[in-house]
Amino acid sequence: MSMEKPTVLVTGGAGYIGSHAALALEAAGYPVVILDSLEYGHAELVERSLQAELVVGNTCDRILLDHLFATRNIGAVMHFAAYIAVGESVTDPAKYYRNNVTGTLTLLEAMAAASVPHLVFSSTCAIYGPPQQIPITEDHPQNPISPYASSKQMVERMLTDFGTAYGLRSVCFRYFNAAGADPQGRLGEDHTPETHLIPLVLMAALGRRQSISIFGSDYDTPDGTCIRDYIHVSDLASAHVLGLDYLLHGGAADAFNLGNGNGFSVKQVIETARQVTGRPIQAIACERRPGDPAMLVGSSDKARQRLGWQPRYPELQDIIAHAWQWHQVRHGMTPPVATV
Ligand SMILES: NC(=O)c1ccc[n+]([C@@H]2O[C@H](COP(=O)([O-])OP(=O)(O)OC[C@H]3O[C@@H](n4cnc5c(N)ncnc54)[C@H](O)[C@@H]3O)[C@@H](O)[C@H]2O)c1
Repeated sequence: MSMEKPTVLVTGGAGYIGSHAALALEAAGYPVVILDSLEYGHAELVERSLQAELVVGNTCDRILLDHLFATRNIGAVMHFAAYIAVGESVTDPAKYYRNNVTGTLTLLEAMAAASVPHLVFSSTCAIYGPPQQIPITEDHPQNPISPYASSKQMVERMLTDFGTAYGLRSVCFRYFNAAGADPQGRLGEDHTPETHLIPLVLMAALGRRQSISIFGSDYDTPDGTCIRDYIHVSDLASAHVLGLDYLLHGGAADAFNLGNGNGFSVKQVIETARQVTGRPIQAIACERRPGDPAMLVGSSDKARQRLGWQPRYPELQDIIAHAWQWHQVRHGMTPPVATV
């Protein structure tokens, strides 16, 4: 029995991960409407690479949400819209609770009022806090140590309560480190300010920054630098489509890790970037940063087993090559030969 695909509202769809998810939804035949405040998103990327209608607005705007649900025939929501800077959330928690928690509450109330029953939510591995065992599984104790991480944990809790009260069914995806770019070069990562390691390393390769800092070289890891789990953004996007399909076929509310299952150290990232780009990248050893665990690696076995998810680009080499292709095009340099 073929099922007509409902229109999906993608909040934060002009941002990094949301735009890749919108691309994957469109490839799977879902009509997409994007709601993005454009505070951090890029309208020109939506216009150039997606079919979706872009509505410029805020998830805190209940009147706008009611209007969208009344006029766009939306059957499901993918909710990426949030502020994402962990450090800023420590110095300005109100900003994070207002946007990430209140904005989501407003969205959930509007969904309940409009009887939109399905939501896929961008959560984070940061809700686990310092790891007690590696790899981290979904039943790991939760101990968020930043307002950003707490805001995500609060939303997960709200989703459970909205499920009980109003029948909302949701999938929470707890991402590890999103990285890479669309292999065909249509979309990629462009955060301002940039805090993620791979784009910072590539900016150093492009000469847009002088060097890259290595925070701590004396961790209890094989080369002394921190190990993180990098997951290709297109693999995150394909998981979101599977998560939506799962909900539309009656799947119960659940939470899934999305990671690579393989950790890579800061030194490995820099070395691989040197190989991929063929350029020198100056690395400077610095003190550890407070709150950085030595190792963060997740188990995504649950998503693989229950959703049939299979990452296509688990190799660090591919993740960095796709990001490099994007960065060169984005910053006005000759594109390399496509690495698809
Ligand atoms: N990047 C990662 O490694 C990572 C890891 C774990 C979780 N996440 C989560 O994934 C989601 C997407 O992250 P990203 O890296 O694509 O960030 P991003 O900043 O590129 O995208 C977020 C988008 O949401 C928009 N936005 C923010 N608040 C809004 C609001 N109230 N209303 C409408 N639009 C709003 C921004 O303009 C931006 O375009 C976030 O929820 C983030 O917490 C990201």
